[in-house]
Amino acid sequence: MSTSDRVRTITKAHADFADRNPNSRRQYDEARTYMPGGQTRSVLTHSPFPLTFVSGNAATLTDIDGHTYHDFLGDYTAGLLGHSERRVIDRVFDALKTNASVGGIHPGEATLAKLMCERFGIERVRFTNSGTEANLLAMTTAVLATGRKKILVFKGGYHGSVFYFASGSAPWNAPFDFVMAPFNDEEAARAVIQEHGQSLAAVVVEPMLGSGGCIPATPQFLAAVLQAARNVGAVCIADEVMTSRHGARGMMDLLGAQADITAYGKYIGGGFSFGAFGGKSEFMDMFDTSPESALPSPVAHGGTFNNNLSSMTAGCVVLGEIFTQDIAVAHTARGDEFRMALQAVAAKSGKPVCVTGFGSMMSIHALATPPHNADDMLKRDAQLQELLFFGLLERGVYIAARGMVNLGLPHTDDQLAQFLDAFAETLASLN
Ligand SMILES: Cc1ncc(COP(=O)(O)O)c(C=O)c1O
Repeated sequence: MSTSDRVRTITKAHADFADRNPNSRRQYDEARTYMPGGQTRSVLTHSPFPLTFVSGNAATLTDIDGHTYHDFLGDYTAGLLGHSERRVIDRVFDALKTNASVGGIHPGEATLAKLMCERFGIERVRFTNSGTEANLLAMTTAVLATGRKKILVFKGGYHGSVFYFASGSAPWNAPFDFVMAPFNDEEAARAVIQEHGQSLAAVVVEPMLGSGGCIPATPQFLAAVLQAARNVGAVCIADEVMTSRHGARGMMDLLGAQADITAYGKYIGGGFSFGAFGGKSEFMDMFDTSPESALPSPVAHGGTFNNNLSSMTAGCVVLGEIFTQDIAVAHTARGDEFRMALQAVAAKSGKPVCVTGFGSMMSIHALATPPHNADDMLKRDAQLQELLFFGLLERGVYIAARGMVNLGLPHTDDQLAQFLDAFAETLASLN
């Protein structure tokens, strides 16, 4: 297709979208009066305007214009359980009826801590309000523990709203002293670790670039990075905010790697805001401010909502009753199968489109061959990517504008089949 035909096709896709969604448009226009950009979560923005959703049920979402979509975004992995899982909502509702804002200790907090330590093989854990905060605290722990300042992160990584590393370190990032290396390049990472050796406090790595395109780390890369970091006395931090859903104990474990401290978040809160960081007691116990603490000056970690009743209660139901280790293993396998089916549809279409990911998290790319790092992601055909998004939406499938797809627990086999059909039709419609 020529460039001008492409531009015409995209202009038409935007116009059709706007025609179908007048109420979302109105909502967006009004919201812009009070919020810059009409929203308060940048990732939700796309042209010409984002949809406004008014309800959800299991793995479907209904927008303000009355369209119901198969929800294959799953709130960027936080929505693993689907919309308003009854068991979570009932338990949280019961808890809230007795004590909404505790202002003290309640049993849910220790119960969830035990569940997390046993589940993920960590010694201690502390709760936060978000994955961003979990990473902030994990990095702070490493800086305090080592007395060093530098933190190695990887290009294409995302660790929260003040930790964007899509290409370089974003100007609005938290003022840590970041150094960067390319993802999935063990030689380059080793060299950077060597170079900054004695001033390196921590290495922070996602076992799969999540926001960066669902690009899994190779086991060799992870092993090399962790070993090199340990050789220079740096703390190894894994960001499993998205990926702890994979397998029985998270994706690091599946790739044979073990961090010193891990950040968690998203689905564990069952739809409520959630974050946690945990790992070895030699690091975590610096937060022991109890009367029994042997530390002369332990580190304080405040947070009004750290142990909020809704998130703690929901987390106990999620990990303790719904998303058990057996279910997590089965869900990872189901995700692998579905991703392969999507990839087969892409390959059959002959279009320059591919699918990457791991387990139940995946991404559709307007690229002929799978990306391995952030530089490969820059080669995506941005216009084709947009057309894939609108093509799927038009056929009743909601995914991330950037191509991310997350399989949730309530997706039925019929929904997966409908997605595969919609994907094949979308690809066939693109020239
Ligand atoms: C890998 C990773 N780390 C951290 C975060 C930040 O979590 P939150 O949005 O809860 O602050 C995200 C969010 O998308 C993430 O994907």
